[in-house]
Amino acid sequence: MSAQEITVPAPADFHVHLRQGPMSQLVTPHVAEGGISLAYVMPNLVPPITSAQQAAGYLQSLRNLAPQTKFIGTLYLSSALTPAEIAEAAKEGVRGVKSYPRGVTTNSDSGIEDYETYYPIFEEMQKHDMVLNLHGEVPSNADAGICVLNAEEKFLTHLFKIHKRFPKLKIVLEHATTRKAVEAVKECGETVGCTITPHHLELIVDDWAGKPLNFCKPVAKYPDDRQALRDVIREGHPRFFLGSDSAPHPLANKYPSAVTHGAPGTKASASGGDDLEPTGVVSCGCAAGVYTSSILVPLCATLLEGFGALDQLANYVSLNGRRFYGYDDEQELSQGSIKLRRAGGGSSAATVPAVYVHPEFRDVPDSDASKVQVVPFWAGKRLGWEIVR
Ligand code: NCD
Ligand code: DOR
Ligand code: ZN
Ligand code: ZN
Repeated sequence: MSAQEITVPAPADFHVHLRQGPMSQLVTPHVAEGGISLAYVMPNLVPPITSAQQAAGYLQSLRNLAPQTKFIGTLYLSSALTPAEIAEAAKEGVRGVKSYPRGVTTNSDSGIEDYETYYPIFEEMQKHDMVLNLHGEVPSNADAGICVLNAEEKFLTHLFKIHKRFPKLKIVLEHATTRKAVEAVKECGETVGCTITPHHLELIVDDWAGKPLNFCKPVAKYPDDRQALRDVIREGHPRFFLGSDSAPHPLANKYPSAVTHGAPGTKASASGGDDLEPTGVVSCGCAAGVYTSSILVPLCATLLEGFGALDQLANYVSLNGRRFYGYDDEQELSQGSIKLRRAGGGSSAATVPAVYVHPEFRDVPDSDASKVQVVPFWAGKRLGWEIVR
């Protein structure tokens, strides 16, 4: 008979977006609810976190919202960053620097273009055992044959080049989505790791095309790519681990044209284009991001069981990432350990909520686009596992 209960040592999420303001208030406590005790937090705020002081302030705000969770900070790589600031950040407990190619994803307008410019930064990071977190996509450029389906593969030359030049620098290729990326990370040495999100273990192109709630960057790719992600988790490769890339967006930003430009046939939607100004809001595409923090470990257990890798759950959600980053102290591992049980037939705890709404907005009409509400991945679906509390 298959197991009915599993104990997992202190799960850790090595890539999560916890935002600012009311959204941060809503989602930050969800990290612990999802079974995670250590959260490695992304810096793509508005404005991005580019200084040690900013990082320290942000981490404190997160601790105030969720005192039981250990938060690890990162800086946003940009021309504003200096080696001196890296040294200062290391002192403040900042552990990594995230690089976003320009214009590729949420709030990445000030991202990097030419990595060589940053070699002095990487040099300093290596000295302080800091980690370079790479958003591994090059910008789309139709003339050069680059689009979201091959943007990750085209990025891999940068990964090899940086790793070769800085073999001792710890590098994490974030949210890998392709077989090519998995192979590239395997080819690199011990200092190169890779996060894999639960949603990329589940989704393929068909699941996000026309479905804003499943749309994220990098986009989910082909069935064969998903197979490679599942296989590397099932084989228990030690340099592949959980980084959820849980990235909450207000529902209104997932369906921007419906909310800000009115229904079909109205003045607002009449020209149907991208540059409408009826409400003073310039249309942008659907925001990229899938939200999983609140259900994270049960979701991972359910997915891994689905492809025969439940025995790798502890490695995926805890041990591999913690060892790579060096947060694998025995005491920490046991203190944050959680127990999962197979969800029973009648248990409502195992049904993913339809939506999360910030308390201040619960009485605001659903049509109000400013309402802070987030629809989680797998909303309304049942999870196979639940946390024993
Ligand atoms: C995600 C990220 O940090 O990786 N968010 C983003 O940039 N918009 C996705 C991601 O952060 O790469
Ligand atoms: O889907 C994504 N959302 N990918 C990213 O890289 C960034 C993120 C976000 O911040 O919303
Ligand atoms: Zn990213
Ligand atoms: Zn991310």
